[in-house]
Amino acid sequence: MAQHHQKVVLVGDGAVGSSYAFALMQQGIAEELVIVDIMKERTEGDALDLEDAAPWTFNKNVYSGSYDDAKDADLVVITAGAPQKPGETRLDLVDKNLKIIKSIVSPIVESGFNGIFLVAANPVDILTMAVQKFSGFPKNRVFGSGTSLDTARLRMALAKKFNVSPEAVDAYILGEHGDSEFANFDEALIGGRPLKLWAAEAGISDADLDQILYDTAHKAYEIINRKGATFYGIGTSLARITRAIFRDEKMVLPVGAWMEGQYGLNDIYIGTPAVIGANGVEAVIEATLSEEEAAKMAASAKTLKEVAEGGFA
Ligand code: 2OP
Repeated sequence: MAQHHQKVVLVGDGAVGSSYAFALMQQGIAEELVIVDIMKERTEGDALDLEDAAPWTFNKNVYSGSYDDAKDADLVVITAGAPQKPGETRLDLVDKNLKIIKSIVSPIVESGFNGIFLVAANPVDILTMAVQKFSGFPKNRVFGSGTSLDTARLRMALAKKFNVSPEAVDAYILGEHGDSEFANFDEALIGGRPLKLWAAEAGISDADLDQILYDTAHKAYEIINRKGATFYGIGTSLARITRAIFRDEKMVLPVGAWMEGQYGLNDIYIGTPAVIGANGVEAVIEATLSEEEAAKMAASAKTLKEVAEGGFA
């Protein structure tokens, strides 16, 4: 991707989309940001509002646009779709959001877009697969937010528990971005030392770690029950991924990546660490998993496969 100009088309200007837009601007990640939504007035309002932030931040070029603006964009980020209502799982959204995704991807591809698709709409692993199928783009240029947010949640929880910075925690949530996700506690490190050693020294049992995983996997429900939606966390995760692409960082981030034999899986997008740079997913990192964790990965993949087969049959 050229250094010339870094243009994002954001499709979906709900709470997640506008939080992402705000995070991009605050961090000076993109040079041009186009916001597209069927609620055109909202995108106009948001663009005007974000423009008011521009003099004090980095991104001076934010406007409301259309799918056609994707023709020379580097990145299309899709946050559009129905969000979970209290009590709904992410997988409950599949039928509604598959239709929405189809109506978005076709006009974007027709615009001549030839960049990277980053998908955040839920159920994200399934919808990322839908974007790849509808677009026909190479798998490295279509990927999802996957377990990036969940990993952030996990690292924060562990950071608090062990009194270290979350950036020092090398632990991942893997699998579905959803109820079947799991943590790689057996292999995780803090400062190059096994997390399990830290836990043993601090008197933290496996049951305590399981509770941390449970709380991580259910945090979205806790937030949705209180404020109706989650958006700052995912908006910032998307901005972090965008930065890795635009600066060609080759950063290892958890994302929803296409499986080609890793973990014994194929033909599915699922949460895993991957190297993210200008070409999107430049390498999938197959995390070393204990036997028990590998079984959890297989179970999580099975859940997704069943939904994907139902959705695409
Ligand atoms: C989240 O995990 C709801 O997927 C969204 O916050």
